[in-house]
Amino acid sequence: MSLKGRRVMVTGGAGFIGSHLVDRLTGEDVERIVIVDNFFLGRHRNIQRAMDTFPSIKLYYQDAAHYEKMRNIMKVEDIDVVFNLAVVPLLTSHELPKITCEDNINITLSVLELLRNDYYKTLIHCSSSEVYGSAMEIPMGEEHPLHPTTPYAASKAACDLIAQTYENTFGIDMAIVRPFNNYGPRQNEGSYAGVIPITIQRILDGKRPIVHGKGLQTRDYVYVKDVVDGMVRIHDHKNTRGKVLNIATGEEITILAMIKAIAKEMGYKGPLEFQRKRPADVDRHLADIALAKELIDFRPKTSFADGIRETVAWYRQNLGKGGRK
Ligand SMILES: NC(=O)c1ccc[n+]([C@@H]2O[C@H](COP(=O)([O-])OP(=O)(O)OC[C@H]3O[C@@H](n4cnc5c(N)ncnc54)[C@H](O)[C@@H]3O)[C@@H](O)[C@H]2O)c1
Repeated sequence: MSLKGRRVMVTGGAGFIGSHLVDRLTGEDVERIVIVDNFFLGRHRNIQRAMDTFPSIKLYYQDAAHYEKMRNIMKVEDIDVVFNLAVVPLLTSHELPKITCEDNINITLSVLELLRNDYYKTLIHCSSSEVYGSAMEIPMGEEHPLHPTTPYAASKAACDLIAQTYENTFGIDMAIVRPFNNYGPRQNEGSYAGVIPITIQRILDGKRPIVHGKGLQTRDYVYVKDVVDGMVRIHDHKNTRGKVLNIATGEEITILAMIKAIAKEMGYKGPLEFQRKRPADVDRHLADIALAKELIDFRPKTSFADGIRETVAWYRQNLGKGGRK
């Protein structure tokens, strides 16, 4: 069941992972790509190349949580498949927990209701490893308890549970992709940025990289192009329906080692700046990806060394002192 000839919507398609998914879809023989993004963190330049080159693509500057507006788009565009990636991110939830929870849940409810009411056929919903909280067992399989530590993670867990109950109750065609930490070109380096873009930006600005706590927290970092490959495979394999699949590498790295790898790649030899641990930060993450291997033959192709090289090269080209060129 490939995406060939399908009319595909990507919510959050102007964001980091969404824009890579859009790029990937341009090579999948799809009939139409529809991007829905409210540009909370999305950027036009993330999708510029796809918009300029793909013959049948449309951008809606729209809140994906707005059911009626989304229904109108569905009717006009005759959508088959939705990849639901729109999100208010983790760091926003430290400042705006209520808005983060409301928006994330309402976005998911909107795409679920549209599917329940037959406005399209298949939903691939994007979860996050944050729903697990810190590892209680290693490696972390999909059955690991949900133990969210931030309002963002709680909203993501709620979305997953609601999506699973819609599948169970209404028999909708739906699967959940649960990526661990993504990295790669186009990850937001502005407000609410992740540690990799912040570190690269600081080194470019001649500042010391910041390590929160001792940097001994671990993450399973997976390159963004491998993640979108996982998403497409999950769509293509019917045996994933109703299931959650971890998408990661099955390898862990400390934040300190990761920052040192970036520093080395960028030729930075100065000191690191140690600051207080971020509130509610997860201590350890290491995925079990056996299910994704078994069901969708998922094999991450990009080594951490290659991924960091490509990521640093991209930011060097696209970031100047103080931000994007
Ligand atoms: N980045 C990671 O490391 C990571 C890890 C695991 C899971 N995820 C998940 O992947 C998905 C994409 O995350 P990302 O890292 O690309 O984030 P991102 O912030 O770069 O992209 C999210 C996009 O959603 C848009 N958006 C926010 N609210 C919206 C709304 N109401 N309507 C329409 N668009 C809206 C934003 O403008 C942005 O373009 C999310 O579901 C996230 O939870 C991300």
